[in-house]
Amino acid sequence: MTPYEEVFRERRVLVTGGLGFVGSNLSARLIALGAKVTIVDNMMPRLGGNLFNVKEIADRVHINFTDVRDSHSMDYLVKGQEIIFHLAGQVNHVDSIRNPIQDLDINCRGTLVLLESCRKNNQGTKIIFAGTRGEYGSSVTLPVGEDHPTNPKGIYAVTNLSAEKMVLVYHDVHKIPGTCLRITNTYGPRHQMAHDEYGVLNWFIRKAIDNEVIPVFGDGRILRDFLYVDDLVDCFLRVTARDQAYGEVFNVGTGIPVSFIDLAKRIVKIAGTGKTAFTEFTQERKEVEPGDYYTDISKIKRMVGWEPKTDLEEGLRRTVEFYRKYKKEYW
Ligand SMILES: NC(=O)c1ccc[n+]([C@@H]2O[C@H](COP(=O)([O-])OP(=O)(O)OC[C@H]3O[C@@H](n4cnc5c(N)ncnc54)[C@H](O)[C@@H]3O)[C@@H](O)[C@H]2O)c1
Repeated sequence: MTPYEEVFRERRVLVTGGLGFVGSNLSARLIALGAKVTIVDNMMPRLGGNLFNVKEIADRVHINFTDVRDSHSMDYLVKGQEIIFHLAGQVNHVDSIRNPIQDLDINCRGTLVLLESCRKNNQGTKIIFAGTRGEYGSSVTLPVGEDHPTNPKGIYAVTNLSAEKMVLVYHDVHKIPGTCLRITNTYGPRHQMAHDEYGVLNWFIRKAIDNEVIPVFGDGRILRDFLYVDDLVDCFLRVTARDQAYGEVFNVGTGIPVSFIDLAKRIVKIAGTGKTAFTEFTQERKEVEPGDYYTDISKIKRMVGWEPKTDLEEGLRRTVEFYRKYKKEYW
């Protein structure tokens, strides 16, 4: 057992957005490490909340169906928590364009309510915030390091950047230890598969499993960096355990660029079903498409000692296997 794993035994941990994709994978791992986990999730429609995600840990996790914007609930729920993973958010890129006020409300006000609840009731807790690589916008240099300019292309990324800054302000001013991750496209088991409005890689997998056409926008040559969810969970745990990580922002990704067409072809090969086809960008997608992105992870490697372990082939294989087995729970 590596030392960081001891850190979570008997710890009281709050996971906001814990019924969603990343939050449920993280909660399962925390429970396995002996943590006492409370999940806060409002099961917002069209996002990833799904009770099946936590079926295996249902008897060991406390679930509170509330909204992070509800200050009365949050005042109560943060009390006594030693670590808070803040993953509740409006993450649907298409809804973010159609209803940006909602993004502002959930991602910014929700984060501020949580921080205020901590300031008033539990200044000793630690906060780990899940931000996005979208905060950078279009890449000026590649790979993208933490000092790259932040010019978000959509409101989802603007509100994430603002929320990140709020966590850092509370770290500096109110001495609530906070650390922020800018996470690349992540894929794997327990992601919503109901629609294609976010989570492109998982959507490709659904298409392949259903033996349908995987629609690849444009010429498919745009580059992205795809991270397997178990590696992201490992990252959250390592960052939490490292005192030097607080007050910092870290990129999280693989550093390995993969084009969308290459990705789609690999999925077809691994699934043994589906086929690829090029299609025009929708207007909505075109407007917020930042172009090539892959991550410079040298800072997190150096300061936290984290790097991903699952290669793309292995991650895709595990993901296809999971959804073949549990398809009826997701679509
Ligand atoms: N998955 C990725 O590729 C990725 C990449 C970068 C950043 N992130 C960040 O990680 C976090 C989790 O993303 P995910 O992929 O697990 O999404 P998800 O949709 O699977 O999970 C989000 C969860 O938050 C809950 N939620 C939303 N608004 C809420 C509110 N007001 N109160 C309480 N709960 C609320 C939803 O019900 C859902 O269960 C988000 O903050 C997202 O921005 C994810």
